[in-house]
Amino acid sequence: MKDQYKEFLKLAFSCAENAGKIIKKGFYREKRIELKSFANPVTETDKAAEKRIVEMILKRFPGHSILTEEALSKEGSEIKWIIDPLDGTVNFTHQIPFVAVSIGIEIEGKIVAGVIYNPILEETYFASSGNGAFLNKRQIFVSKTTEPAKSLLVTGFPYEREGRIEFLIAPIREINKNYTGFRRLGSAAMDMAFVARGSFEGFYEENLKPWDTAAGKILIEEAGGRISDYYGGNYSVYKKTILASNGLIHENMFSFLKGIPEPK
Ligand code: IPD
Ligand code: CA
Ligand code: CA
Repeated sequence: MKDQYKEFLKLAFSCAENAGKIIKKGFYREKRIELKSFANPVTETDKAAEKRIVEMILKRFPGHSILTEEALSKEGSEIKWIIDPLDGTVNFTHQIPFVAVSIGIEIEGKIVAGVIYNPILEETYFASSGNGAFLNKRQIFVSKTTEPAKSLLVTGFPYEREGRIEFLIAPIREINKNYTGFRRLGSAAMDMAFVARGSFEGFYEENLKPWDTAAGKILIEEAGGRISDYYGGNYSVYKKTILASNGLIHENMFSFLKGIPEPK
């Protein structure tokens, strides 16, 4: 592994561990919840975890760029840390243990390393370019299932739902006809980690943000999966639609996603 990736992953682990302690501490307590927009909560834990991560990165690499969900983004070098300090805030506010810290590292526009840490389940997922994907210390791979009837999918629904309800429901109809079923677990980062470890055959969602998918992207690629947008184009974390799968059911998933118009 490149020494640079090792160094970045090491720092990402300790940032995730520190943020994870903050999340764990808040998990069973009463929360003060603000709404950023319709159905879109933020708590003091999201903000405290973000502050801790950004402080730790900038202490070590003051010139790097930061792209983060809540407040602390900063322009800098071609090396960008893309951070969701708490993915699954709705789960967090309801004490559902499907939450994660997600940290992806982008160099000159390419995601090269990432860590997803669930402090409640004590699961650390990580990957770096060319070095495989891991859960805790075990290497993980996408599922080998080829048949939709044996495939379980996962998705999520964006906070911005106005004018989109029909497009969110249409794929569910097709999944119910052709697949084992689907889950909606409330953390895009964990959804992607579960595709990488082979628990789900596929994941799709619209209107995610770079911090939701940056770490998941490298994890799924390194676990042997495939990622695109809904229409077969290359995926970038700045795109509006994502389809991530074990590769084997990818074409089949296009059949119910290609017709969905891109959100604005
Ligand atoms: C959300 C989660 C959820 C997805 C939403 C995201 P947040 O992130 O990843 O699964 O469906 O679209 O915004 O707000 O909990 O960090
Ligand atoms: Ca998120
Ligand atoms: Ca978040």
